Amino acid sequence: MSETADIVTPDAAAEMNTRRVFVKTYGCQMNVYDSQRMADALGADGYVETATPDDADMVLLNTCHIREKAAEKVYSELGRLRNLRDRRRAAGSDLIIGVAGCVAQAEGEEIIRRAPVVDFVIGPQTYHRLPQVVGRARDGEKVVETDYAVEDKFEHLPARDERQVRSRGVTAFLTVQEGCDKFCTFCVVPYTRGAEVSRSVAQIVTEARALVAAGVREITLLGQNVNAWHGEGPDGSEWGLGRLLHKLARIDGLARLRYTTSHPRDMDDALIAAHRDLDCLMPYLHLPVQAGSDRILKAMNRRHTADEYRKLIDRIRDARPDIALSGDFIVGFPGETDADFEDTMRLIRDVGYAQAFSFKYSPRPGTPGADLGDQVAEPVKDARLQRLQALLLEQQAAFMTALAGRTISVLLEKPGREQGQLVGRSPWLQPVVCDETVGKIGDIVDVRINRASANSLIADQREVEPPA
Ligand code: 5AD
Ligand code: SF4
Repeated sequence: MSETADIVTPDAAAEMNTRRVFVKTYGCQMNVYDSQRMADALGADGYVETATPDDADMVLLNTCHIREKAAEKVYSELGRLRNLRDRRRAAGSDLIIGVAGCVAQAEGEEIIRRAPVVDFVIGPQTYHRLPQVVGRARDGEKVVETDYAVEDKFEHLPARDERQVRSRGVTAFLTVQEGCDKFCTFCVVPYTRGAEVSRSVAQIVTEARALVAAGVREITLLGQNVNAWHGEGPDGSEWGLGRLLHKLARIDGLARLRYTTSHPRDMDDALIAAHRDLDCLMPYLHLPVQAGSDRILKAMNRRHTADEYRKLIDRIRDARPDIALSGDFIVGFPGETDADFEDTMRLIRDVGYAQAFSFKYSPRPGTPGADLGDQVAEPVKDARLQRLQALLLEQQAAFMTALAGRTISVLLEKPGREQGQLVGRSPWLQPVVCDETVGKIGDIVDVRINRASANSLIADQREVEPPA
């Protein structure tokens, strides 16, 4: 959160007699979105965000449980926070510490047992109760709030605050769907985020309009299984994500739409057609396959084969030839042989990814994968991951290098690292470093790409005047 938060200096906050909260976000984009909504809810309760724990009255860790390393990071951070709180108490003040997100949901009271410095634990389905939970914690109670709420948290969270949205820039996330019913055998999400739930068309459209009214030009729809989103449209019929995208595309001032993360089984015809028909739907698709071996895909309960995925990619590319594909891969799932791994490498070569995320399998307690025999040895996982990442990096570099010399449209997002620069995004999600004379933040401009660096594209720069 520290990059995008509406930051108030300590002096200004003291003058306004407000409390300060530092929110630290781990994990996926949905957590980024949730952190913003929590900050907004706390804002209505008198808290302003601060960029560091050092001057905060409250620290809120929004946690991720997807892999073991992600969860362990939270406990290391809590160790550091204990020191900070001890120093505070020695100086006669205090610090409230809360844990939210998926570790909170999965571990509940265990967190307070393991890290007694924690004052409250709140799961992702109960964020609308945050102000009340914080109030109880401030009164000295240890609070654990992880029940799946019967009420819809979105109905109870305060509406998006225009000033806050504006301060966060011209791109925004909007959660349209949460939870997952797929039960891939490696994954904790169905346990931490619960069953698949879609927000209503009306709620989504209202929030999207509010974002655009606050200056947002690009919205990324979020869901653990975003393309499983479905809801009743104003006409009473059942809508899928393709139809929703058409509706959102008509909002005046909204220039770009994206969505993430998708499951191959939910890429229906209407959604594929939306990629053909909607100019504002950006040509980028994150479509995780995880593995390229049918045997492993079956053991993962992905419920499709590698060839079905290849055919799906062909249909998507027929609809939108310039689409950039991104994926997630897991190496070393239990039982994965060298031959299975080679199948994954082959699939990657066949598809060609513009970007990808790859992980060593991490057994998660409570998931079926953790109980399987035949766990793959760590050094084998390491070696496979290295080869897989080398191939994916090569593909990423090839995709980016191919853009050199082309003129592409860029949404200008923020100042660059160096004076005189602005950084924007290409349609395919790469950061593009531009000269500030090309336009202002929020503009969509055409720029010529000069070259690619490791992770970004460099547009032609203004000629530098030679020194007199
Ligand atoms: N081990 C390794 N990677 C995992 N992912 C999810 N669960 C695990 C696990 N237990 C990866 C998947 C998923 C991404 C968000 O994280 O690739 O798509
Ligand atoms: Fe996890 Fe599979 Fe659901 Fe994705 S589809 S959230 S990997 S269970």
